[in-house]
Amino acid sequence: MVKISLPLTILFVFLSLIMINHLHAASPKTWCVAKLTAANVQLQENINLGCKRVDCRPIRHGGYCFNPNTLLNHASFVMNAYYQSRNRTQKACNFKNTGTFATTDPSFGSCKYRS
Ligand SMILES: *[C@@H]1O[C@H](CO)[C@@H](O)[C@H](O)[C@H]1NC(C)=O
Repeated sequence: MVKISLPLTILFVFLSLIMINHLHAASPKTWCVAKLTAANVQLQENINLGCKRVDCRPIRHGGYCFNPNTLLNHASFVMNAYYQSRNRTQKACNFKNTGTFATTDPSFGSCKYRS
């Protein structure tokens, strides 16, 4: 059996960790937003469900993402916050097929989306 020296093993583990970190950092960010075709009733459902899991104060009256006061805007904000909180797993942006992925930051004005 080949005997591998401890210092070499430690070096290997160390380098592997650097590579894993690097790959992680290199993976592109994604956001989750509501599809423009989503029905209002489903958008409202997404908001209701999402707000049980994420902080929805930003889309409440006076919140930094309240305007524009539309279901599409509010649902997108909540759906993204939920998606990010689930570590961006694909199914966390499904919402009965009313969620879609954005590869650029959907934030605008004071409405900052989590990433
Ligand atoms: C997301 O990732 C973090 C760090 O790896 C972990 O602590 C957390 O449990 C994960 N959350 C979910 C919902 O998988």
